[in-house]
Order: sequence, then C-alpha cells, then structure tokens
Amino acid sequence: MGSLICISGEIQQRDLDLLREVAGIHGFTVTVMSRDGIQGKRFEEDLPRGFFSFLPPSPDLILELFANLLLGSGECLPLFQRVGDEVPSFINKMPILGVFETPLTKAAVCSMLLAIVRSDAVNERNKAMVSAIVKYRNEKLDLVRIGTALSSENDLQKLLELILSTCREILCADAGSIYIRERKEHGGAFSDTLSFKVAQNDSADLGRMPEYSVPINCNYIAGYVALTARSLNIDDVERLDESVPYRAGRALMEKTGYRIKSMLTIPLKNHDGEVVGVLQLINRKNAPSVRLDKANTDQMVRSFSLSDEEFVQSVASQAAVSIERAQLYENIKALFEGFLGSSIAAIDERDRVTSGHSKRVMGFVNAFLDAAEKDPLCPYYELASSPDRRKQFQFAALLHDIGKIGVPEYLLTKENKLGQGEFESIMSRMDYVELLLALKPSNAPGWSSIEEVERDRELLKQVNECGRLSDELYRRLDELKQKIYITIQGQKKEFLSQDEWNKLSVRSGNLTPEERELINSHAVSTFRILSKIPWTGNLARIPEIAAQHHERTDGSGYPGKLTGDKILVESRILAVIDIYEALVAQDRPYKPRTSLKKALQILREEADRNHLDKNVVSFFIEKEIYRSPEKQSS
Ligand SMILES: [Fe+2]
Ligand SMILES: [Fe+2]
Repeated sequence: MGSLICISGEIQQRDLDLLREVAGIHGFTVTVMSRDGIQGKRFEEDLPRGFFSFLPPSPDLILELFANLLLGSGECLPLFQRVGDEVPSFINKMPILGVFETPLTKAAVCSMLLAIVRSDAVNERNKAMVSAIVKYRNEKLDLVRIGTALSSENDLQKLLELILSTCREILCADAGSIYIRERKEHGGAFSDTLSFKVAQNDSADLGRMPEYSVPINCNYIAGYVALTARSLNIDDVERLDESVPYRAGRALMEKTGYRIKSMLTIPLKNHDGEVVGVLQLINRKNAPSVRLDKANTDQMVRSFSLSDEEFVQSVASQAAVSIERAQLYENIKALFEGFLGSSIAAIDERDRVTSGHSKRVMGFVNAFLDAAEKDPLCPYYELASSPDRRKQFQFAALLHDIGKIGVPEYLLTKENKLGQGEFESIMSRMDYVELLLALKPSNAPGWSSIEEVERDRELLKQVNECGRLSDELYRRLDELKQKIYITIQGQKKEFLSQDEWNKLSVRSGNLTPEERELINSHAVSTFRILSKIPWTGNLARIPEIAAQHHERTDGSGYPGKLTGDKILVESRILAVIDIYEALVAQDRPYKPRTSLKKALQILREEADRNHLDKNVVSFFIEKEIYRSPEKQSS
C-alpha cells in the first residue's frame, strides 16, 4: 500500500505546509497535481491513499476528476472536498468521504488522515469479501456450465474426456485420469476392479494408453479411494507417509519419466452413494501455460486446496450421474442394435438365397461414406462427415429389405417360372400323354408322335428355366397350351392350365405380374415396419431412406414413383449399391454371378437410362467402392 496523498486545485502555501507537516508525521507523502498531471494518469503501483480537492465545489469538476484518474482495478479512492460556508447538496450523492474548510487546522487534517487509514481497512475487508463472492459465483457458474455440458453428452468416451478436461482447466491440473467401475452384467452388481478409461496430460506425450484394470483394494490410490469412497488429497506422492497402505501407480512415471507430485483423487458416487468411478487430478500448476519437466515440477506444482477438493466433489456427483446415464444409453443402444441384428438374421433365415445381402449392402455404404469423407469437394461430403446422418444411413442400409419378412417364402426362393412341384406335375401329365399315345392315341389328339412329346418336354424345360422368353418359344408354348388330351375321368382338357400358362408365358424373368407386385410390396412393408419404431430425432428418416431404395430417378421405380432429387440422396446411393450387390452376389442359384466388369457396365447403362443417379454411379465406380466390401464393412 502506497503512502501518497494527492492534492488538486488552488491550495494556499500555509495549508500545504500544514498538510505536509501532519502527513509526514503519519508517514504520508503529499503531492500537488495540476489538472494536466491528473489527466490520463494511471496509478497502478503507487496507488494514492487519498485525495484532497481544493477545486471549487462543483459536481462536474469532481466527476471530471474521477473520470481522469485511471486507477488500478476499480479502487475506491478516499476523496475530501473543500467547501465554503455552506455544504453543497450534491456532496451526499458523490463518492466523497468528507469535506473540509480552509484555512486548514491541524485537528481537521489529523481527522481526515485517520479517516483515510480507516477507509483503507474497510476497503481491504470489502475487497476480500468481493473476491470471495466472485470466486463463489464463478464456481457456481462453472458448475452450471459443467452440468449443462454433462447432461447433453451421451457418448461415454466423450463424456469422460469432457469431465476430465473441464476439471483440469478449472483447477489448473497438468494431468488427470478417470477410472470406471463396470457392472458384472447389465443392471447387476459392480465388479471389484476399476477400468482405466481416459488420461490427459499437458506436459507428457502419453501416446496410446492401453486399457488396464486396477483392483479395488488398499494397495493403489485409485483402488483405495473406490474402496473407502473418500477422497484423497496428496501433496507429494513421492513422500507418502509410511503408515498409509496405498502407493501411487508407477506406470506413467516409468513410461514417460513424468514426475507426479500433487494428486487429488475423488470417488464418483451415484445417487445411491455407490462408487461408479474415480477421478484423479495430477499436479496443480501455478499457471495453465506452464509445461512441467523433472527440473521445474517441484517449483511449479503446488498442492490442491480444500476448496479445490470441494469443487471437484461437486462436479463429481454430477459426473457420476451423467456417467451412469451414458452407460445406460450405451446399453440400450447395444440392446437395440442386437435386436436389429436378430431381425436381419430372421430375414436371412427365411431367404437363404440372399443371406448376408443386407450386411454386404451396409459394407458398401460404409465404403462409399469413407471415400466421400476423404473428399471435401464431393457432393456426399456433408452426409459422410455427419456422424448422425452416417448412423441413420447405416441403419437404413441394414434394414432396407426388412419388409421381405411379409413376402411368402416360396417367392423369395423361386428359381424358375414354375415351382418344383408344379413342374413335376406337368412332367407327370406329359408321361400320361406319352402313355396315351402308346396305348390309345385317340385320347391324345394334340400329339402325333412320341418324338413330338419329347420335343414338348424339352420346350417346357427350356421355357421354365429361361430368363427371357423369345417370340419363337412363346409361339410354341401357346401351341402346347392348346393341345388337347383326355383325362382318366374321360374329360377333354387343354394341356396347360390357365395358372400354368400365366407363369410360363412371362416374357422376362420368372415372376408373374401378381408375384412381382407381392415382392415389390416389401418396400412399402419396410416403411410400415420401420415407422413403428420410435426412432430418436437424428434417426427419424430411416423408414423413408430404406423404403425408397427401389425408386428410380426417371420415376419408373416403386412404391412412390418418385423422380430425381425427390428421392433422398441416401436412397439413390442405396439403389446403386443394392443393384450392384444383387448382381455380383455369389449365392443366387437361379442366376449365375455377374462378372465385375458386366455389373459395372449394367450400372452405367442404368444411369444412362436415367434409372440410377449418374453422379452416384460415377462416384461408386471412380472411387472403386465396389471392391472388397467385407474388408470395408468390418
Ligand atoms: Fe429391396
Ligand atoms: Fe436389397
């Protein structure tokens, strides 16, 4: 505290001498300041203890005096103002400690100096109170800030990083770690070990820290804190009292040469008072920017204070609740993903022909997104770099065919135009015709010879298995349909029933329009099934993305006949991948595996016909997304 008394305004020599004399006795120095001297003067080191204003008493002049004095940190300077016979009314409203009249008397000067000394004491007390209030307020604000941040983070790993970094930042701790106590099984008892989960260190390069466990017992500090559920504040871990049972783990010190001195270890307790983890803060520094090494650690590191401990304990209770919530969230997520996995397995079980299709499609989707994420200029970068949209797309890819659960199994596994039983039934009929020709040709008027029967057998076989029915085969099939034979019951009948004709006469593929419609209905069923799941906001478009995977950009797809950009970008990507996967899948017995070259050519042709999105097809081919999906999906 300085000893300077400043004076401004017109002062008589006699008054100045008296002031200097009395002030000198009390250890004060008196300086007369001109108006210019006050202007912009910054008192930072030698802050005046008091100010005597001999200026004419006017509020404007006094305000100007205060405005011109750039005092250190908002200090309140005791000011005395000279007045005349009358005390001006503004005095009560101004920050003036007292008034005096001239000429000065020794008694008046003494009493003003005494008031200055008293004012200092009051100021000191006020300052201490204000700094305590500010500290308390900041801590509360920090707690609110931490609480808000913790309550909005559901990713356990990110949450732990956040808890640790925030505590370290506020307490100026150079390093720290968090251990978590896992449960033996979901909702079951806690295990008797702590799993090391996260470590941070400003001064040492921790590299990749391996996951390890610490037994909950008296031997190690973290284990001891978990066991006793009480915090430990250690000044120097290398100078532990011989009587305490615990020791500091030496792994970090041995690995990096880092010297641990002060350490604050706090149990993280849930609402039931159970320890769910341990938070450890290491080396409280004098300043955040300090980098510690072996040489400066003793000098730069101090102990954690009692108020540090109280603060971290307040954070710890919020952190423990957030950790339990994040663990619960992860369990629910795992449960849900397990449920999805079983649903997909159920579809695979019904349709062994396309078994694994959905997972392989998801593998290609991942590969597509990985490639897009590496290219900030590509049109899929935003999609690929948003974790929420990625997750949504992955689920949609995995579930895109879930509607097939409602399609009859014989349709899913149908290899030819006729089912096996239907074809055999026709062949038996042909045997009967052959028998009639041998025994009673008049009952098989449609055929003139056994050779003709054999030709018709071949025709049926060929038609049943062909993917595309030529005009010639169609004509011969039509002839066969109309051939007449007499049944055992003596009835005249056309050789093929209407149902058999409908199935065999399909010109392309092996499905009748009705069967095709039934299979196509899986897209609508996918939407219906997925819409029943209460997806969280960031996954809300899964039903739409999945249900649009058979839409085609020219509007020829189903179920919505959507065109161009009206189809979600995820669905346009899914459409390309779905077709490609179906083409190259090795496990479809009714269709030989399409070669890679041919499959890519088909994709290009489909894009040229405006069935598939040209840009998606180009990206898929250019970035070679079609390669090794198994590797990419793992
Ligand atoms: Fe599909
Ligand atoms: Fe599919």
